[in-house]
Amino acid sequence: MRALCGRPGGGVEGSAIQEIPTPEPGAGEVRVRVEAAAVNPADLKVLAWKDGGAFLHSKHTPLVVGYDFSGSVDAVGAGVTDRRVGDAVLGFVPYARSTVWGSFAEFVTVRSDTVALRPAGLSAARAAALATGGSTALQALRDKGRLTLGGSGGRVLVNGASGGVGLIAVQIAKAMGAEVWGTSSAAKMDAVRAAGADHAVDYRVTALSSIREGFDVVLDAASTSSYGECSGILGPKGAYVTLLPSGSLVTGKLAALFSSRRCEFVTVKPLAADLAWLAGQAAAGALDVRIEASYPFDQIKEALTRFQTGAGAGKVVVEWAPRSG
Ligand SMILES: NC(=O)c1ccc[n+]([C@@H]2O[C@H](COP(=O)([O-])OP(=O)(O)OC[C@H]3O[C@@H](n4cnc5c(N)ncnc54)[C@H](OP(=O)(O)O)[C@@H]3O)[C@@H](O)[C@H]2O)c1
Repeated sequence: MRALCGRPGGGVEGSAIQEIPTPEPGAGEVRVRVEAAAVNPADLKVLAWKDGGAFLHSKHTPLVVGYDFSGSVDAVGAGVTDRRVGDAVLGFVPYARSTVWGSFAEFVTVRSDTVALRPAGLSAARAAALATGGSTALQALRDKGRLTLGGSGGRVLVNGASGGVGLIAVQIAKAMGAEVWGTSSAAKMDAVRAAGADHAVDYRVTALSSIREGFDVVLDAASTSSYGECSGILGPKGAYVTLLPSGSLVTGKLAALFSSRRCEFVTVKPLAADLAWLAGQAAAGALDVRIEASYPFDQIKEALTRFQTGAGAGKVVVEWAPRSG
């Protein structure tokens, strides 16, 4: 099969599309013929082998990255009963040191119980673009923020609301009944408002600490802040939720031990039920998946470079040309 093959530390420049053996699904796994994949910051971190990239993928050459995908099941491993050949699915490869192959390839193998069926009416590109960002936003707000869908979510601040996680987080926070503030650069504030934020804030102009007090959840999607900086704007039982482990997370967790407020870190998990809910919402038009650029697979390096520039709000996706047979 054809895949984007890099090497740890080689970056995007050190990668190239090459022919490699097609992986076989192991017991409990499905092999998915990829129709679309979406770019995430983790792809760049792993190829550069820095900023925590070493925790997100196994170190070997060729290094095949790519997490989000949508496509159709092409083969099933021993013991798989929940998915069948031909099923249209979406999912993402686990962000883990044990991950060997990625989705920037013609085929990817994953555990069958980590993929969801893709509903009619949701394109492969939008499904792929939703997988990591949507799951992270949902798991952060629900599991760490302790908000509930259809609830009265109080006040939520999403820092980095114009990104892959942030744009979906704004929408889910609204579905959880919250009044939502979202930060971004000035150029992307319209996208943040279009996602449903009640208040868009330019992070270059207004410090998080001066937005207002009394947030129930501060979801630091950009992970540029800390519990220490945000504890003053949290309500008495508020939670600061970050997506990146750091020294300030440890300090924040210690400080929160002496407070009614919480300091949380989320690691996204590929849960079929979450992916199914997200896909259903998107197919029904209740969740907007914003794609800012789409490239054919042959131009995957351009897609990665585009994402690296942070030019637009939304996801960059890569699509395979339709194949017969
Ligand atoms: N822990 C986990 O399980 C998990 C899961 C998914 C992602 N992540 C990590 O979470 C981070 C965000 O992921 P993503 O997919 O949303 O990335 P993304 O699409 O690149 O978006 C990042 C966003 O952060 C904003 N930003 C940049 N600098 C900022 C600042 N100083 N203050 C506020 N916002 C700022 C950017 O806004 P502008 O472009 O408007 O400047 C951009 O919209 C990445 O580091 C990623 O690796 C972790």
